[in-house]
Parts: sequence; C-alpha cells; structure tokens
Amino acid sequence: MARLIKHTAVGPKEVPASDQSAWVCMCGLSKNYPFCDGSHKLARQQEAEGKTYLFDGDTATEIADPGPTRQV
Ligand code: FES
Repeated sequence: MARLIKHTAVGPKEVPASDQSAWVCMCGLSKNYPFCDGSHKLARQQEAEGKTYLFDGDTATEIADPGPTRQV
C-alpha cells in the first residue's frame, strides 16, 4: 500500500527536546503533522497491499501507479 501526499510546507518544524516520547507521523495523513494523531488507522482500513491511493479528507481512492516516487 502507498499513498500520495501533497505537502505545502517549505521549511522544517522544530520538535523541542523532551523527556517524553513524541510520535512522528510517517503515513502523511495526520491533521497534526508532523505528529501522529491516529489517522494512520484510515490507511490500515482502506488500503490494500500493492495499491496506491489518493486521499481526499478521510476517503481513499485507488489510483494508477504514478511511477517512480521518493519513498520515506
Ligand atoms: S503515522 Fe500518520 S497519523 Fe499516525
């Protein structure tokens, strides 16, 4: 499973050092990016292995493979 995420930020966001754990979003769906807000559960529920999706709000639509992309 994969998804395309449109990023509009043009710079970094500081995550201050802390003695508490911080969960950084790796799925790209968080509404509190760069922190995880639990939205990754949508990916687990709506995506199938080997497919690529475009998200509009909370809805995933399967799309054709966009070709080579950078993976994180
Ligand atoms: S990893 Fe993205 S919202 Fe949790």
